Amino acid sequence: MPNLRLAFLGFGNVGQALLTLLLEKTEELRARHSIEWSLVGVAGRRLGSAIDPRGIDPLGALELAKARRPLAPLSAMPLEGDGVAFVGRCGADVLFENTPVSYEDGEPAVSHLRTALECGMHAITANKGPVVHAYRSLTALAAERGRRFMFESTVMDGAPVFSLWRECLPTARLQRFRGILNSTTNLILTLMEQGKTFEESVAHAQQIGIAESDPSGDILGWDAAVKVAALVTVLMDYPLTPQAVDRKGIDGIGEGEVLKAQRDGLRWKLVCRAERINGGVVAAVEPELLGPDDELYGVMGTSSAVTLESDVLGPLTIIEANPGPRTTAYGLLGDLVSAVRTAVV
Ligand SMILES: NC(=O)c1ccc[n+]([C@@H]2O[C@H](COP(=O)([O-])OP(=O)(O)OC[C@H]3O[C@@H](n4cnc5c(N)ncnc54)[C@H](OP(=O)(O)O)[C@@H]3O)[C@@H](O)[C@H]2O)c1
Repeated sequence: MPNLRLAFLGFGNVGQALLTLLLEKTEELRARHSIEWSLVGVAGRRLGSAIDPRGIDPLGALELAKARRPLAPLSAMPLEGDGVAFVGRCGADVLFENTPVSYEDGEPAVSHLRTALECGMHAITANKGPVVHAYRSLTALAAERGRRFMFESTVMDGAPVFSLWRECLPTARLQRFRGILNSTTNLILTLMEQGKTFEESVAHAQQIGIAESDPSGDILGWDAAVKVAALVTVLMDYPLTPQAVDRKGIDGIGEGEVLKAQRDGLRWKLVCRAERINGGVVAAVEPELLGPDDELYGVMGTSSAVTLESDVLGPLTIIEANPGPRTTAYGLLGDLVSAVRTAVV
């Protein structure tokens, strides 16, 4: 039974939810997947880091992180340096990389994951940046090292999108997809239909922890665009950056527009789409007015959905209701099990 040494780089909402879920699922991992695990490294930015090859107490790490106190007292060695230095020294078998996304170039997460693979670790992330900026190179490096680069949680949190495609739809060719992929804007539009102002809706999304203190990445459509780019890059095997997605956010939609649509029996949604056209892929994110006969009309609040159209199946829709850090954590845990099961050693 392998004892997997795990390291966490980025120990915020998602990292902490994942460690909590691993504790909860320890027995199932052992009994159903023959996986034992221990925590050998954990790092944030302001939290600093801890490494101990003999194992770090997970509850102690969670307690310090929740209290926003430094992790250093849990460390068996003095540590200095950035995330790359942490990965190089942590001695883990698996790195979970859950630092914030960079839309521009995916850094420093790309370097964290590359270093992990070069050191012989599986590299698992919920960070979309590395998928859109380095999918092919990280996947090739992983194959070369007999390890896996996995990222299920980057789109639709824990709902199986990439693994469904990989495991259950062999040889299928994705022609187009359409969906709602950004929870924050979908919640804002839902709340505006219920009579809240734009500002009140944004404040509510921040209060429940789904929108960041600077919510512009969601509102201007960047988060949706990076998810579209990730789906196109991986499922259509067509490298696309978020900058190449034709993008419009919901910043132009005021309370008046939302209420008028409602009176007309319609609803504004931030719709994501991509389609193969003339040997390329055309991708867009923009607000659309949808009627009740549209399958995305009923996707409300923080829920998300995507419909995949391939050359072999009719439209196949995945809907995820009420996601959160725990569902994201589940996607990462699923990746861990898949990586261990399928690694070439
Ligand atoms: N929240 C979700 O449900 C969700 C869903 C899908 C995907 N994701 C993705 O998952 C990732 C993590 O999200 P989150 O909600 O956990 O974010 P978060 O709560 O802001 O946590 C980010 C963590 O990364 C650390 N960090 C920031 N910059 C770093 C750096 N340069 N080097 C090392 N550590 C650094 C932060 O440390 P300090 O706090 O000490 O600064 C913190 O521990 C993001 O890429 C996000 O897009 C999140």
